[in-house]
Amino acid sequence: MTHELSAAGCVVAITGAGRGIGRGLALAFARHGARAVVVSDLDADAAAAVADEVRAAGADALALRADVTSAADCAELVDRTEQAWGRLDVMVCNAGIVTLRPLLDLDAETWDRTLHVNVTGTFLSLQAAARAMSGQPPLAAGRPRGKIITMASIAGRSGAGPIASVIAPYRASKAAVISLTQSAAITLAPHVTVNAMCPGLVETDMWARMDRDWTALQGIDQGQAWKQRVAAVPMGRPQQPDDVAGLALYLASPASDYMTGQAINIDGGLMMS
Ligand SMILES: NC(=O)c1ccc[n+]([C@@H]2O[C@H](COP(=O)([O-])OP(=O)(O)OC[C@H]3O[C@@H](n4cnc5c(N)ncnc54)[C@H](O)[C@@H]3O)[C@@H](O)[C@H]2O)c1
Repeated sequence: MTHELSAAGCVVAITGAGRGIGRGLALAFARHGARAVVVSDLDADAAAAVADEVRAAGADALALRADVTSAADCAELVDRTEQAWGRLDVMVCNAGIVTLRPLLDLDAETWDRTLHVNVTGTFLSLQAAARAMSGQPPLAAGRPRGKIITMASIAGRSGAGPIASVIAPYRASKAAVISLTQSAAITLAPHVTVNAMCPGLVETDMWARMDRDWTALQGIDQGQAWKQRVAAVPMGRPQQPDDVAGLALYLASPASDYMTGQAINIDGGLMMS
């Protein structure tokens, strides 16, 4: 049996794809043979700009404003995808937020907002995709009917060094995403696979904001928090969205058709478990 590592012919939808990792995944899927990429984000202009880049990379694209905390937006995202291409093969539940706040200064509103976007948003986008995928035939005989990839983080694993005390809701949310991934994998097997990606230190706007807020809290120069964290990465450099894309392509491809319910670290060796 041969296993292909391409996204050939797949219709892919990605939440939070207006920038950062989501944008990187959209372009990687386009470059690796996806038929179409649905670029959704809270920021409609950013989604439209990435959709243009996807088309330039050779795939069809649709830009949509979708807030993952809205069940109606998630349902519309899937409906519009099916209207355009008749199916949805790969859903990447990528949208997420982080706020840095020392645990003892944390308020319920910040806690709730983080859990709402990262956990409820993943649940709603995953559920909308799963409903559509469960009723469609597989792309090829013997394959799953669809594949769902959630976005956790090494922050959802045990232990994370001193940063753990200032990102408690984020850590709780990503642990919940891993748990939700397992519940969905059991529920949807054998028709739809569900796996989580756990990136490490990805050089995006999210980490730029984390560095700004964390250095301010510690009273050290901007950029130092990022540098200290990167110094601990065994692979010796920060992660780029393309490093995450390699795993996403694998999880979308026939090579991973027998894998479900897993949370996979892709972090340059920061977390070895
Ligand atoms: N950057 C990292 O080091 C890192 C590491 C591990 C995991 N992650 C996870 O990867 C995902 C993407 O992170 P990133 O670094 O690209 O972040 P980012 O902040 O650069 O981009 C996030 C995107 O999500 C969108 N978004 C935010 N709330 C939304 C909502 N309610 N509905 C729809 N879209 C929404 C934003 O508009 C933005 O375009 C997140 O889930 C994040 O937790 C990031």
